Amino acid sequence: MPATPRPLTLPAPAKLNRMLHIVGRRQDGYHELQTLFQIIDLCDYLSFNLRQDGVIELTTSMDGVAHDDNLIVRAAKRLQQASGTHLGASISIEKHLPMGGGLGGGSSNAATVLKGLNQLWQLGLSDATLAELGLALGADVPVFVLGKSAWAEGVGEKLTPATLDTPWFVVIHPGISVSTPAIFQDPELTRDSLPITMARALQGGVAEWRNDCEATVKKRYPRIAEALDWLAQHAPSRLTGTGACLFAAFESQEAAQTVAELANQRWQAWVARGLNTSPLQDALGC
Ligand code: C5P
Repeated sequence: MPATPRPLTLPAPAKLNRMLHIVGRRQDGYHELQTLFQIIDLCDYLSFNLRQDGVIELTTSMDGVAHDDNLIVRAAKRLQQASGTHLGASISIEKHLPMGGGLGGGSSNAATVLKGLNQLWQLGLSDATLAELGLALGADVPVFVLGKSAWAEGVGEKLTPATLDTPWFVVIHPGISVSTPAIFQDPELTRDSLPITMARALQGGVAEWRNDCEATVKKRYPRIAEALDWLAQHAPSRLTGTGACLFAAFESQEAAQTVAELANQRWQAWVARGLNTSPLQDALGC
């Protein structure tokens, strides 16, 4: 009997927005922003098995993940269409990242699908092409295709790799989910921040900058405000994206661990290492 080929298993890491300024609104309703994306080592894991019949199949033990408009399936079908391949894949996911938490989990899954299937189907598409395909799926997909911590402008797609310090982060999920479109559409959202330069953004740590969505999110979601205020007693706390997750930076793993253990008594909390290169890049050897 021929040996069953081993699946290709790849990580899909999370990101934090160390700062986020909203500098304008486009005709299509999307917002022009400036943000520092930092990749962290909290990951989902996706496994891919080649199929000759062209079918894209997703399996997972998590409720609410395996439906057809899932970003994983959409990314695979988009790549299939764009490349004209007749190959398919069975994809399974080991989910660790919360959905709708501001950690970019869904976008990162999509980027891992694009990069993983590009390799499995031997398409040879460039990262620039994959990022373009990914942008149509979500504004945060391109940074995960790039696979590096980065300064981002536009809606998040104009990327410049950035070398950031790599602290230990405490990441807290306060157990609720935030509607990103509702936050971006809130009339009171800070939309007129003056643009800053990448050099200035890089000079500031988590304490120096802010997230322009934070005031609106705090007002609409008192439980997030409570968690931000609690974490701020230990170190400057910041929302990532439009939440619901929030974070603070620590110099040592031990200090982060101590705060995470306290946080875990009330919410779900993790200790994560800040990275400059995505573990996906390392796994793919590029
Ligand atoms: O692209 P993504 O699916 O992550 O965006 C979700 C929603 O967030 C969009 O439909 C839009 O309302 C809002 N958004 C925005 N400006 C951005 C990113 C997202 O207004 N740069």
